[in-house]
Amino acid sequence: MTYNFDEIIDRKGTDALKTDALATRYGNPDLIPLWVADMDFKSPPAVADAIIQRAKHGIFGYTCPSQEYYNSIINWIGTQHEWKVKQEWITFIPGIVKGIAFVLDCFTQKDHQVIIQPPVYHPFRIIPTMHKRTVIDNPLLLQAGQYKMDLDGLKRLIEPASKVLILCNPHNPGGRVWTRQELTDIAEICHEHKILVISDEIHSDLAFAPHKHIPFASVSDKAAQNSITFMAPSKTFNIAGIVSSYAIIPNEELRDKFSHYLESSELSEGHIFAYLAAQAAYEYGNEWLVQAKDYIWKNIRFVDEYLKANIPQIKAMVPEASFLVWLDCKELNLSQKDLVSLFADDAKLALNDGVMFGQGGEGYMRMNVGTPLANIQKALDNLKKAVNAKQTNS
Ligand SMILES: Cc1ncc(COP(=O)(O)O)c(C=O)c1O
Repeated sequence: MTYNFDEIIDRKGTDALKTDALATRYGNPDLIPLWVADMDFKSPPAVADAIIQRAKHGIFGYTCPSQEYYNSIINWIGTQHEWKVKQEWITFIPGIVKGIAFVLDCFTQKDHQVIIQPPVYHPFRIIPTMHKRTVIDNPLLLQAGQYKMDLDGLKRLIEPASKVLILCNPHNPGGRVWTRQELTDIAEICHEHKILVISDEIHSDLAFAPHKHIPFASVSDKAAQNSITFMAPSKTFNIAGIVSSYAIIPNEELRDKFSHYLESSELSEGHIFAYLAAQAAYEYGNEWLVQAKDYIWKNIRFVDEYLKANIPQIKAMVPEASFLVWLDCKELNLSQKDLVSLFADDAKLALNDGVMFGQGGEGYMRMNVGTPLANIQKALDNLKKAVNAKQTNS
């Protein structure tokens, strides 16, 4: 079956954050929405089929995860990422961001330090800060237009109070798929200093060949025994609104402690459509994903080539995974305020302001290309006009 990713589907009026929060977040409901990280494509039909089928039953009582649900996760991770996961390692969580908060609550105290590697997905900073943990930045290094982890920097900043490192694997917003060596090095350092690693692998299924996602916990025994991995079908199959994330914890002691924490507030209780949707996507969504990735990759190539030909002052960091493109706008020589205004007020585009991703985000904007190509063409044409007008006027 061939899926039509060119289809323009109006999301306005569906309470989609991406469209229906434009007025409150950006002050203009009519911007082209290329911000929050979900896609404008219909999910694999098997997802809606499973939900409709179940909804027709008409009774929505308490629901437990089925054996088939667990099998679908184990098979998916085994075939996609060559990581053999045991069923008892898996627990539902009501979202990865919430999962980060749970880990901090469960394993750390108020004066403890959480290490992050900015620029990075903003809740990595916001959640620990709101939980009164101290966030320590180990900024990524920019080398030949790509991010690298600063392992020496990491070793230097570790203190006895450093208890958790949050790893974005693959990276958002830079799109890096970390290498086995990078992951092994992080595992060594964190194990030596007793720093628990949270590996957020929500973008893992979206790596583009030849890049291949490597689950952090799979690189060594030290990594497996000293980490909590978060995964989800939400980015992969565009089902973020269903909330179907899960944690994987090979270490029994960590797992028991975390399970007790979750169970003491029933936080690991999933819901009827989460289990169904995840299972349907994992069992029947692979062909959809292959085609979706192909489409996204073409969009990324289009953005890169368009910018090179028409707006060379803006450079795309070509991602190794996922549908987010990190745009280096520093050569426009604008203040961040003027840069944000150029995109929103002049070009009528809603992107993420690079500054929200922390240190190193200045001069950047993040563009979501999980949308029909026609939207991207329109967005880039708007941007080209806005940049030309700005430069003519200055
Ligand atoms: C790196 C990363 N982690 C987590 C999330 C959100 O996960 P959840 O919706 O399960 O909280 C996102 C969404 O953009 C993300 O990019």
